[in-house]
Amino acid sequence: MALFSSSTQQLPETAAVPHHVAVIMDGNGRWAKKRFLPRVAGHVKGVELVRKMVRACLERGIQYLTLFAFSSENWRRPQEEVSLLMQLFVKALEQEVEKLDRNGVRLRIIGDLSAFEPRLQGLIRQAEEKTALNTRLDLTIAANYGGRWDIMQAMNRMLAAQPEKRDSWSETDLEPHLAMSFAPEPDLFIRTGGEQRISNFLLWQLAYTELFFTPTLWPDFDKSEFDKAIASYQQRERRFGRTSEQLAGKPNA
Ligand code: IPE
Ligand code: IPE
Ligand code: MG
Repeated sequence: MALFSSSTQQLPETAAVPHHVAVIMDGNGRWAKKRFLPRVAGHVKGVELVRKMVRACLERGIQYLTLFAFSSENWRRPQEEVSLLMQLFVKALEQEVEKLDRNGVRLRIIGDLSAFEPRLQGLIRQAEEKTALNTRLDLTIAANYGGRWDIMQAMNRMLAAQPEKRDSWSETDLEPHLAMSFAPEPDLFIRTGGEQRISNFLLWQLAYTELFFTPTLWPDFDKSEFDKAIASYQQRERRFGRTSEQLAGKPNA
């Protein structure tokens, strides 16, 4: 049984403040390039912004923050950049987990973790265990994550769990096996850096998410930019297939 209802199976509960925000943190490289710095300087700055974003979510009472840090396609980058990103990931886990824990943040990493070196896998496991009882904010980092990978791994697990079902699988059979089954679907999706695409992020889970794209580069995405995204979200009419009249509760709607 899934913990949360699916937007296509039942009408989800909505609120003025999004319950779950998912972000593609894009534009680090361009931020550095504009300053004649190496791309990695942009990634270092990007980590700082993650800290700010966590604080902003704690202040605003947002329960789930999911950040895309490294896609399953990012291995295609120059080897040097990939290895610097891995080092940064290790460093962030070594330096930040204590503080996250103190602030009541539960950390999870989703993605195909088997591709990471054993030391990094160990740090991930430790961080998840250390913060497992925290409830103030659920912070999820997607690393070596791909939406298609997620759907395929969920499908494989679903088939292994109930092979006898054969041709009667439903959405609700698949959902508990998806990487984010512990969270409701994102209410608000933000992509910084100007591109208007999903880049293989949460393909299944974004079915009814409100999308917000901004040209602001991730290292420049401060709290006021975040509030602009939330304000835009608050203007949206989330119909989930219904009409405006139905939402307004008009007779015969
Ligand atoms: C996003 O910033 C961070 C990662 C993908 C790791 P980019 O590195 O993609 O920055 P741009 O898009 O080149 O500016
Ligand atoms: C998406 O950014 C992945 C992350 C932010 C981790 P990219 O910069 O890799 O996306 P594309 O390749 O431009 O679509
Ligand atoms: Mg990019």
